[in-house]
Amino acid sequence: MEKILVIGAAGQLGSELTKSLSDLFGGENVIATDLQEVARVKFGYCRFEVLDVMNKEALRDLVKEEKVSQIYHLAAVLSATGEKNPLFAWHLNMESLLHVLELAKEFKLDKVYWPSSIAVFGPNTPKVNTPQYCVKEPNTIYGISKQAGERWCEYYFQKYNVDVRSLRYPGLIGYKSLPGGGTTDYAVDIYHKALAGEKFNCFLREDSYLPMMYMPDAIKSTLDLMSAPRESVKIRSSYNLSAMSFSPKEIYQSILKHIPDFKIEYNPDFRQAIADSWPDSIDDSCARADWGWKPDYDLDRMTADILKNLPDFYPSKK
Ligand code: SER
Repeated sequence: MEKILVIGAAGQLGSELTKSLSDLFGGENVIATDLQEVARVKFGYCRFEVLDVMNKEALRDLVKEEKVSQIYHLAAVLSATGEKNPLFAWHLNMESLLHVLELAKEFKLDKVYWPSSIAVFGPNTPKVNTPQYCVKEPNTIYGISKQAGERWCEYYFQKYNVDVRSLRYPGLIGYKSLPGGGTTDYAVDIYHKALAGEKFNCFLREDSYLPMMYMPDAIKSTLDLMSAPRESVKIRSSYNLSAMSFSPKEIYQSILKHIPDFKIEYNPDFRQAIADSWPDSIDDSCARADWGWKPDYDLDRMTADILKNLPDFYPSKK
């Protein structure tokens, strides 16, 4: 029987992935953890513990006492927040990963999942259909920590046989939680503003293309990768992953089809330089070939689904 520990479970990805893991493995076998006790209310369907991943002893005790067999380590400082305090972002993103990898080695865990990102790419990377293997040279501290993390993951797999698996997520778009400090987050926020009848102030230029993915595809890709036979997972740094690519103007036009009087204005800020350093689109042929990856959602299908379901996020306004 698997016992699954989710670190950073109350975040944008964790809020949805933890539910899917509980549906798959049973809520009694999933332990959601996050920094704050207030997060407990989100996890009525599984177990919950307060945990600071930087407290290595507390993490070790939990893994040992609960006989944890898999860790999903989702806690991280994202790109825009990371630029405000680079040393803290580096410390948290790297130390926490090393804690998890060390415990995976010590307790011979069955599997570890750790998300990487399109942020591993930089200004010298080919921008269109960015290949799996190419120049990286990220220039955000978030991207630097993800690239270094990928190397650590591969190292622990090669040296210590730790079955660690990873995906380079594009910008993730979901309606079940608010985003937390990323550059791609405008594409979440825009739906909230459209629904509220407010004008959207976009912090990127209208023609700034970025790779993006709807949350159900992100969950599917993660579960597919984690359930793939060990020998199918040929890349142990992190897999390129793709679903769609659009600009602020295109997501705005997609929303206009449902909300014709929605207004937008563009005021690029420091996040524009981050977006400019990342790919426009991603070649994910390795993920498709190795474990059968295929996305379900394009932009218009995602927009229709979000605008139908987003009111559930605001029960008091219904
Ligand atoms: N969505 C992330 C960010 O914008 C990239 O992985 O920081």
